Amino acid sequence: MRILVTGGAGYVGSTLVPMLLEQGHRVRVYDSLKFGGAGLLPCCQNRFFELMKGDVCDPAGVAKAVDGVDAIVHLAAIVGYPACKKEPQVATQTNVEGTRNVLAARKADQKFVFASTGSIYGSIPDYICNEDSPRSPITLYGETKATAEELVLNAGNSVAYRYATAFGVSNRMRLDLMPNDFTYQAVKNKNLIVYEGGFKRTFVHVRDMARSIMFALDRWDTIKDDVYNVGHESMNFTKEDVARQILKHVNYYLHFAEVGTDADQRNYEVSYEKIRSKGFETTIDLDRGISELVRAAQLIDFQNPFANV
Ligand SMILES: NC(=O)c1ccc[n+]([C@@H]2O[C@H](COP(=O)([O-])OP(=O)(O)OC[C@H]3O[C@@H](n4cnc5c(N)ncnc54)[C@H](O)[C@@H]3O)[C@@H](O)[C@H]2O)c1
Repeated sequence: MRILVTGGAGYVGSTLVPMLLEQGHRVRVYDSLKFGGAGLLPCCQNRFFELMKGDVCDPAGVAKAVDGVDAIVHLAAIVGYPACKKEPQVATQTNVEGTRNVLAARKADQKFVFASTGSIYGSIPDYICNEDSPRSPITLYGETKATAEELVLNAGNSVAYRYATAFGVSNRMRLDLMPNDFTYQAVKNKNLIVYEGGFKRTFVHVRDMARSIMFALDRWDTIKDDVYNVGHESMNFTKEDVARQILKHVNYYLHFAEVGTDADQRNYEVSYEKIRSKGFETTIDLDRGISELVRAAQLIDFQNPFANV
């Protein structure tokens, strides 16, 4: 299959693209390289890999990018509430108008997979969310992704995946993801203060995110024209659970104190019954993900541009 991955140089893309190439697909990445492109360096060894540097807000660039592909995986976005808060206009432009551009440029028979997010559910501590639960995003990030998701589903021949919070090691690393951040602090500082420890969150390993995209492309006719939560109930944890799990790998000082609040007050539990009923299960649990994060933190210094946001 010829596949376009917008935002393919990012955290999810730099795990997904090598996996698609390994499967023998031809992969074109269209990305503004906001965080550079080093995560895709190993892909350059594969002659079926192509990079087009460009902006999803540029219709002419997008038209060239979609030309001749069988499927589009639309990952390009300003991701997470701190990044959206930092540049709100760019976030709306990229997440909403960028998605509109890609949809407008694609042909109806080109499959379209969209990376949405569980952030669109907002704070619903009292019951378990499924795909029919009301969407009440709390942040600009959640709002823009909810709007984009609607555009995608209305366009047809599409799949929207509402991902849990990603974690794990990828070729482009992100530390603004909670398990990644907690593990890094535990390894580097030997110290972590957790606030709102009882808040419930739900997680998915970045490699399982990539697998879910390949799953959709492989079983398109049974998956298409719908929205799915992607994760696993066994990966619903409180922030305290995550911090305690890290203690099994790293000897560090864990302290609970209400010294802050998350601007994104996400507090929710999610059902993954719908995607499971289609045959998709995640494979990497929190413990395994943390063990790889520990090794990565020991290996190199990462930077978290949103550490103080
Ligand atoms: N990581 C998560 O926890 C998570 C969870 C749910 C959903 N998602 C979704 O998955 C997708 C990928 O997330 P990620 O974690 O890889 O983020 P990321 O920030 O690592 O990657 C985003 C990529 O998009 C590119 N990009 C940004 N603006 C662009 C523009 N205007 N034109 C072209 N490219 C542009 C960036 O250069 C970057 O390579 C996003 O759509 C995000 O909303 C992520």
